[in-house]
Amino acid sequence: MAEQGAGGWYEAQPVAGKRVIVTGGTTGIGRAVARLLAAHGARVVIVGRHEDDLREALDDVGAAGEAHGLTADLSRLDDVRRLFATADERLGGLDVLVNNAAVYGDEWDEESLEDAEYAIRTNLVGYVACAHQAFDRMKGRGGHVVNVGSMSADLREPSGPTYVSTKAGIQAFSESFRKAANEQGIKVTVVEPGKVSTDMIQKPDREKARLEKEQKMLRPEDVAACVFFALTQPDRCDVVALQVRPHLQVI
Ligand SMILES: NC(=O)c1ccc[n+]([C@@H]2O[C@H](COP(=O)([O-])OP(=O)(O)OC[C@H]3O[C@@H](n4cnc5c(N)ncnc54)[C@H](OP(=O)(O)O)[C@@H]3O)[C@@H](O)[C@H]2O)c1
Repeated sequence: MAEQGAGGWYEAQPVAGKRVIVTGGTTGIGRAVARLLAAHGARVVIVGRHEDDLREALDDVGAAGEAHGLTADLSRLDDVRRLFATADERLGGLDVLVNNAAVYGDEWDEESLEDAEYAIRTNLVGYVACAHQAFDRMKGRGGHVVNVGSMSADLREPSGPTYVSTKAGIQAFSESFRKAANEQGIKVTVVEPGKVSTDMIQKPDREKARLEKEQKMLRPEDVAACVFFALTQPDRCDVVALQVRPHLQVI
């Protein structure tokens, strides 16, 4: 689709009909991404661990467009395989993977070894495993993998070294994977948000609403718009990395 505005042509690729997996599409950023893509005609599969959140998200995303879903724990390779088998069955192929499911975990001095391992399995191994599965389906045909990273990759705050290590890993993985995948017609984008008002942020809802109003916290829809932008550029144009921050977040 090309539109001529005052400044010239703006080419946007439609997402209508695209077959999409959004991991962690049951809440927060993933749900906003799934809703936006479904509203523009994409056929979306969402996944999370909790049945109640999945049900609520399927009602929400389903009201916007075509939505399928399953529960799975992406820290487990068998569940990653089951997710892609489900998408094969429901969508008949794959055009877009949005790798987004992650956990923050505990502060360092409260984190058990098991919690640290779980965060690394979900946030890093899960992303890499999903990218492998997507690559197998997209190679030679084209596709797009969007990895939702974090400002933590660069900020490296002291509160969550394990989380920081996974997001720095995703930044490096995205760059290297893009170089490996481009020759197969596959685009790779990393989107790195600052603070976003979701369940991941352990603050009362009232405080999150205040921080949004003060422009110190983003809404999930702001990040969804970045993912949408990356997915809708012309074939020749790769959005490699996008950083998005609340206007008044000074770090
Ligand atoms: N919120 C922020 O300030 C912020 C900032 C920068 C980057 N991010 C990134 O944005 C992404 C989305 O986070 P969010 O803020 O939207 O948080 P969120 O609302 O907690 O969403 C996380 C999603 O991932 C799913 N999930 C977590 N662990 C999973 C697992 N092992 N297997 C399958 N699904 C799993 C969750 O569902 P279940 O719990 O039901 O499994 C949920 O759907 C994450 O990659 C996060 O690191 C967030």
